Amino acid sequence: MSPGKPTILVTGGAGYIGSHAVLALKRAGYEVVILDNLVYGHRELVEKVLDVELIVGDTGDRPLLDKLFQSHDIAAVMHFSAYAYVGESVVDPAKYYRNNVVGTLTLLEAMCDASVKKFVFSSTCATYGVPNVVPIPEDHPQKPINPYGNSKLMVEQILADFDVAYDFKSVSFRYFNAAGADPSGLLGEDHNPETHLIPLVLLAALGKRESISVFGTDYPTPDGTCVRDYIHVSDLADAHVLGLEYLLKGGNSEAFNLGNGNGFSVKEVIETAKQVTGRDIKVVECDRRPGDPPALIGSGDKARKILGWQPQYSALSEIITHAWQWHQKRHQ
Ligand SMILES: NC(=O)c1ccc[n+]([C@@H]2O[C@H](COP(=O)([O-])OP(=O)(O)OC[C@H]3O[C@@H](n4cnc5c(N)ncnc54)[C@H](O)[C@@H]3O)[C@@H](O)[C@H]2O)c1
Repeated sequence: MSPGKPTILVTGGAGYIGSHAVLALKRAGYEVVILDNLVYGHRELVEKVLDVELIVGDTGDRPLLDKLFQSHDIAAVMHFSAYAYVGESVVDPAKYYRNNVVGTLTLLEAMCDASVKKFVFSSTCATYGVPNVVPIPEDHPQKPINPYGNSKLMVEQILADFDVAYDFKSVSFRYFNAAGADPSGLLGEDHNPETHLIPLVLLAALGKRESISVFGTDYPTPDGTCVRDYIHVSDLADAHVLGLEYLLKGGNSEAFNLGNGNGFSVKEVIETAKQVTGRDIKVVECDRRPGDPPALIGSGDKARKILGWQPQYSALSEIITHAWQWHQKRHQ
């Protein structure tokens, strides 16, 4: 570890994307403290793989946060913790606004009071709603179509106001579909319940699910199925280190898309997974789901230009290969 690099607090660091960011931070020489309530996070991952301090607690717990900022010399916060099930957010919006907005506001206030004013935030392409144009640029109107997307946009708005009032600097990353696993095989995607396409397809390939459902085959896309932009989780993690360093060097608050600028259809994902795994995957074609835009693709040009971000893994087969290595190990 290179001496002198500051300590970063990572909320949600026991989860999927947060754990990959912790690994990237450690590889870059940073000290890391994780705050995770373990509602969805994995303690054994932190203890056995990441080997950093884990504080089990909630971002909405102000006394705990005050103690944490007093006892640790934190230079910046990376904030991954949130609930992220779109369907659940529609039936239980209070749960989402409480955790994703109120919990985040509590954290932001504690940060300001502790004079920690650099923040990297996990936003989402869901803040754009149904896009007018793809690839979506950062200045595209943000009109979310569900409470999850609203909750993330509200935090972006809070961050803009905190900058004006308190000189609080933030980078908001609007991720497209995070996918894949660290190429080392040490970490991977382990949501429960799982709703993301690539792990669901791989669970079907492993025989852990009977089939994979394809929602809608009549979209105005080349093969009729929805098109999404899959971004390797290690590329996301690298972007977070760059975003952090941009802020530590005095950068202004910015929002960046993290996407590949390439779309792949649901059918293409399933076909690629069949090739990668060499297994048959049973597909069930279903009606469209309400609120699924035909195509979501994000331009990552701004992050490339301003942060010097260079995604390493844009080939779908490579993303699925890394995810497959992890899933085989996880379910052996
Ligand atoms: N996975 C994606 O494709 C995707 C896309 C866009 C945005 N995001 C955002 O990225 C972030 C990370 O997503 P993920 O897929 O890694 O999810 P995840 O569920 O694997 O990780 C979230 C972590 O936060 C923890 N957590 C939740 N609420 C907490 C609280 N109040 N206090 C402390 N810890 C709490 C959970 O236990 C979990 O470990 C989320 O903010 C999500 O909205 C994810």
